[in-house]
Amino acid sequence: MDTISAIHARHSCRAFCRQPVPEHELTQILLAGQQAPIAQAMYSNMQLTAIHDRRLIDTFTARFQRLTANLDASPFYDAPTLVVIATNSYIAEGIGLANAGAVAQTMMLAATSLGISSVLLTSWVRVLRDQKDLIDQLLLERTLVPVAAVALGYAKNKDAQAPTPRSMTVKHVY
Ligand SMILES: Cc1cc2nc3c(=O)[nH]c(=O)nc-3n(C[C@H](O)[C@H](O)[C@H](O)COP(=O)(O)O)c2cc1C
Repeated sequence: MDTISAIHARHSCRAFCRQPVPEHELTQILLAGQQAPIAQAMYSNMQLTAIHDRRLIDTFTARFQRLTANLDASPFYDAPTLVVIATNSYIAEGIGLANAGAVAQTMMLAATSLGISSVLLTSWVRVLRDQKDLIDQLLLERTLVPVAAVALGYAKNKDAQAPTPRSMTVKHVY
């Protein structure tokens, strides 16, 4: 799939099959993420942690449910694979988030071109970021904090989520 087609085909998946993402595809997605633009080219400010273990994702989900008192919450949509994006806590929060956005979109476009569904997730961070026992499982380098994750997998219903055309205000100045 060419890049323009991948951009138009990408959409958020919120219902995943259990089937894991093959290692070869995940490796390509992780390599793509590392090609993203990063402020001042400080790539050491970023870390990607790929969680291959569904049980760990389930543990994160259970803690999220307990802390939000919502047993129906499914912040990771049962995705089999999660790539947590962490950034240096010493850089400006806006820069860290912009870096994470660039990494996430690059990974999601790579995933789309490989036929793998994805969704960018941030709501879990606010709830779980102080849960040291869970955050320790992410093997983050010192000073790095999680800011987002990309859930990856195969969509349960491939036809259910055809992307709709979007529009933003666009102006031209000549
Ligand atoms: C910064 C950011 C944070 C997001 N966090 C979440 C999230 O926590 N949970 C979720 O289901 N979707 C999340 N999304 C996905 C958006 O809801 C989604 O991209 C948007 O509705 C457009 O739909 P599309 O991705 O299908 O094009 C997030 C997207 C962005 C850019």
